[in-house]
Amino acid sequence: MTETSHDEAASFEADPFEQRWIVVSLILLIAFMVTVTIAGFALGFQVPGAESRVDPRTVADSPPWNEPGLRDLGGGEYAAYVISRQYLFDPRTITVPVGSSVTFYLTSIDVQHGFLLQNTNVNMQVVPGEVSRLTVDFDEAGEFDYICNEFCGAGHAAMFGSVIVEADEGGA
Ligand code: CUA
Repeated sequence: MTETSHDEAASFEADPFEQRWIVVSLILLIAFMVTVTIAGFALGFQVPGAESRVDPRTVADSPPWNEPGLRDLGGGEYAAYVISRQYLFDPRTITVPVGSSVTFYLTSIDVQHGFLLQNTNVNMQVVPGEVSRLTVDFDEAGEFDYICNEFCGAGHAAMFGSVIVEADEGGA
């Protein structure tokens, strides 16, 4: 009995057709791993993280959300706290100098919203009860509009704002 199963194991050979497909799936697997690695490290793709949990009923009254807006962390780094609600982003304008690295923290106090920052790789959902976070390096001056891209009600289309990246005036 033992001998029989040993023999069967030793003589196991996959059908050539099956072997070919095993090779194809391995190649695909490796190709996907390479693609994800390039996207993550070379192209800077980020997965929007649920950075922490908050109570949507009280979040607007507690720091740092009671004063939404920009915080200068020094060394060209900024944190931007943005509250989303029907139908606006607070603040509606964020101004930083060129070369800044801005980490956006967003939360919603009512329904689910979206935050798409045009001409950057930021596109995240803003879910009540959660804080979404993504970082952008602004290497060029200009205006980057952000829009709500999750339908959130009648005033959805009015939900927008912009990041203004000011050119270096040759000072500092
Ligand atoms: Cu907020 Cu659509």
